[in-house]
Amino acid sequence: MVHTETPLSPAYSCKSQAITGDIRIPGDKSISHRSLMFGGIASGETRITGLLEGEDVINTGKAMSAMGASIRKEGDTWIIRGVGNGCLLAPERPLDFGNAGTGCRLTMGLVGPYDFTTTFIGDASLSRRPMGRVLEPLRQMGVQVECEAGDRLPVKLRGPRAPAPISYRVPMASAQVKSAVLLAGLSTPGVTSVIEPVMTRDHTERMLKGFGANLEVETDADGGRTIRLEGRGTLVGQTIDVPGDPSSTAFPLVAALIVPGSDVMIRNILMNPTRTGLILTLQDMGADIEIIDPREAGGEDVADLRVRSSSLKGVTVPADRAPSMIDEYPVLAVAASFAEGETMMTGLEELRVKESDRLAAVARGLETNGVDCTEGEDWLVVRGRPDGKGLGAKSPDAVVKTWLDHRIAMSFLVMGLASEHPVRVDDAAIIATSFPEFMEMMIGLGANIVQ
Ligand code: S3P
Repeated sequence: MVHTETPLSPAYSCKSQAITGDIRIPGDKSISHRSLMFGGIASGETRITGLLEGEDVINTGKAMSAMGASIRKEGDTWIIRGVGNGCLLAPERPLDFGNAGTGCRLTMGLVGPYDFTTTFIGDASLSRRPMGRVLEPLRQMGVQVECEAGDRLPVKLRGPRAPAPISYRVPMASAQVKSAVLLAGLSTPGVTSVIEPVMTRDHTERMLKGFGANLEVETDADGGRTIRLEGRGTLVGQTIDVPGDPSSTAFPLVAALIVPGSDVMIRNILMNPTRTGLILTLQDMGADIEIIDPREAGGEDVADLRVRSSSLKGVTVPADRAPSMIDEYPVLAVAASFAEGETMMTGLEELRVKESDRLAAVARGLETNGVDCTEGEDWLVVRGRPDGKGLGAKSPDAVVKTWLDHRIAMSFLVMGLASEHPVRVDDAAIIATSFPEFMEMMIGLGANIVQ
């Protein structure tokens, strides 16, 4: 079975008047994927509101349905009847995850140890991404792996009769790898442990506990964490209200900061400390971001944000902040293009293996639009121009290549809103993987974007 690609759909953005309005961002992508997966393997009913209905998450839903979960929507609520932990069925066809690394890698963990064969496929971007980081611990648990050289998709997994619990130290800062091992532990007898030297987003731990898993976390003096999960326990369906995605919030937020006269209210944003690195960094740069009514909802921190246009100054972003803003560097680089002075970003090695080589894609896109920047192996320096003079595409063939990467497309469309010249991207269709409402929402705020 071959994955079919959507045709490219070019777009451009131009200097805009103030960005103003009051918006609610769609649900968090990480929590949405996990809600469908955990609901799908829990016993009984899970009810989800605020689910992100982007292509990535829909593909996860299709995979869970193909393995026996019943998923339907009534009004605004997604209702899942799960199969029960350990009771997934063998899918009849390959599972197609499209562009989604999270959906694919977490499902590899979830179903890898089962004693049947599952085939994983994806689009051209996902098929280029390394899967060895998840396949390696699965092999240690006894899972048989069949794939192309270099551990890339398509991948076939078949679990052993009795998977072996492991203690796994995650070699890179990756919530996907941590989660894949923990999910494999769900159907494995005994205690599976994951050691993460650097803390990454902790939605899997929080949500599995909420579903009733026997899971404990120990944090050492250096912030390293050991997570222990007892396998083959019972998970019970839950009611989940997914908060707004801070990674999607980043786009209107940076737009409001760089377009003069802007004032935007963004409601119900997830403020889990493992996700707020961009807000901290922008505040260091002088951004006027007011955190309003911080509260707790469904075991997560949530708040509203009021953002007003600001004069930004360059900063050095601490490398140890990278895990809490890993998806936000492209749009931070755009903010830095309008800051006074130099912004230095380090510890970016993981950006090379995202939906695109994001470090290269950002650097090339900035150069295409006249931004002075230097790309290193795992770092980027951007020298900004606060008035946006000279920035943007000086000729119609100066087009940003997006490489099937939604965040590259959205970041550069934001850039054009404050640049002297328009900014063009070769594709905006890919935005639907994570933020289908992006165009309409941005245009509604006054952004001058044309597709
Ligand atoms: C995610 C983890 C991160 C992030 C991705 C979502 C998750 O990936 O970039 O968008 O939901 O666990 P890595 O684990 O590769 O860092």
